[in-house]
Amino acid sequence: MKQGKIAPSILAADFLRLGEEIAAAEAGGADRIQLDVMDGVFVPNISFGIPIVQATRRATTLPLEAHLMIVQPERYLADFANAGADTIIVHQEVSPHLDRTLHAIKELGKKAGVAINPSTPVAMLSEVIELLDLALVMTVNPGFGGQRFIPGTLHKIRQLRQILDERNPACEIEVDGGIDEATIRAAYDAGATVFVAGTAVFGHPEGAAEGVRGLLEILHR
Ligand code: DX5
Repeated sequence: MKQGKIAPSILAADFLRLGEEIAAAEAGGADRIQLDVMDGVFVPNISFGIPIVQATRRATTLPLEAHLMIVQPERYLADFANAGADTIIVHQEVSPHLDRTLHAIKELGKKAGVAINPSTPVAMLSEVIELLDLALVMTVNPGFGGQRFIPGTLHKIRQLRQILDERNPACEIEVDGGIDEATIRAAYDAGATVFVAGTAVFGHPEGAAEGVRGLLEILHR
């Protein structure tokens, strides 16, 4: 049975208590931490940058994923690698030289990921499938936490899993946006194995550890 993994997004965390929040998510069984970097250009919101990645690196030994929701991500790969990111995820929509960018991430010794927005077809990844360590299917339009899961993205997960099973079985499918106890199972059954969750974890009434545990419990029923 494929194992589901939770990647809490600190976007929804209490930044006054970021270290505690990360520790709680880790205690609950988080597999990795996702850092949602937003520039206010690619997405209509500004979040945080290198200093928060560096701080998160100091707060946990879990792998860190830098999800770059920014234009010209190729300009910042070394910065995020040096700040502590283990995986760097760029958006296909702002990467006309995606093959070169993915190679550049690997040359930095990091895992290479690409994200596609709800309106971007899986086919846009067809020429770089073998280069990917992770493919992120956005299940909301990026820019904000707390949005509703878009069920119309499920077919993309199934389609991508089929292609990966043939051409790059080791590549993980990650989903991000509106993942909670009501939506995670459908994404898992469609073929995703890594689940980014911000609100469902850091907005959980009993705290982040319970938020992670609740999601894992549903996955491993
Ligand atoms: C893009 C961000 C959010 C965040 C998760 O908008 O990437 O999707 O990580 O947000 P929640 O889990 O709160 O929907």
